[in-house]
Amino acid sequence: MNEIVLQTFDLAKQYGPVRAVAGIDLPVYRGEVYGFLGPNGAGKTTTIGMALGLIHPTTGRVELFGQPVSPAHVTPLRRVGALVGAPSYVPYFSARRNLQLVARLYPDVGAARIDEVLEMVGLAQAANRPVRGYSMGMKQRLGLAAALLHKPELIILDEPTNGLDPAGMREVRDLLRSLAGGGTTIFLSSHLLHEVEQTCDRVAVLKQGQIVAQGRVSELLGQRQVVRVRVPLPTVAREALLQSGVPADQIRTNGSYVEVTGLPGEQIVERLAAHAIYPGEVIAQGTDLEETFLELTREAV
Ligand SMILES: Nc1ncnc2c1ncn2[C@@H]1O[C@H](COP(=O)(O)OP(=O)(O)O)[C@@H](O)[C@H]1O
Ligand SMILES: [Mg+2]
Repeated sequence: MNEIVLQTFDLAKQYGPVRAVAGIDLPVYRGEVYGFLGPNGAGKTTTIGMALGLIHPTTGRVELFGQPVSPAHVTPLRRVGALVGAPSYVPYFSARRNLQLVARLYPDVGAARIDEVLEMVGLAQAANRPVRGYSMGMKQRLGLAAALLHKPELIILDEPTNGLDPAGMREVRDLLRSLAGGGTTIFLSSHLLHEVEQTCDRVAVLKQGQIVAQGRVSELLGQRQVVRVRVPLPTVAREALLQSGVPADQIRTNGSYVEVTGLPGEQIVERLAAHAIYPGEVIAQGTDLEETFLELTREAV
């Protein structure tokens, strides 16, 4: 049931002195939306290029559906749809006409399937209008429609919301969630934390070619969440939390606050109350991946 559809094994790419991808291992399971998050230059596009058999790994390997992929072995890519960079289309043709051109690449994609994908990406109403009049979000959805024509089991997207306005981003995000709801596995890269947080089930955070964190979005958030609690005597509260089993490195006093990492607010209150300490204020901080991301990608000093 938990089938791995995309897996990299110690995958690395060296460009002269630049180690673009420095030995990464990641499994993507069927049905999930997997986010590949990292700042510009982290190695996302290079990794995706290797997963799509466009770039030769220096060392390591990629498997799709349990089969090796390389520029010399692209068979498993028939089960994959990809959108890397801006979608290509003929601007003065309609969406339907553009999809008819792409459909020629595939033996089994006919008019009915074109109607189906137009419906899926929400372009059925606009299908016969020239694409040049489309919004950015609509053009991107057309790119996705083209990637979906042959019913791929996995879609790989490199920064699918890059360059879109907020409305376009939301259109693409909603579309990806609905595709995932229909059982398609999605692997997408982004340098936008917010995007990944809203779209993905699991993420890998990439920094200088290395994965520095990987897991469920909710877990990564929980592990790193800091809760600030205002108490009359922070050092006494700290002592109480230590006695209740919270590790010392997760507790910090800061003015009239204790700050606790990786423990939900309710649990902190409960533990303090057991020592007759009643917080005047409980503030959850770092509630999105942003701080985690910044913390993880900050240069070591
Ligand atoms: N064809 C190439 N030749 C030389 N260096 C490259 C090439 N492609 C990427 N790089 C370098 O590899 C690193 C990772 O790039 P890339 O995979 O594009 O990162 P991202 O997509 O995360 O922004 C960068 O330092 C980039 O300059
Ligand atoms: Mg890139």
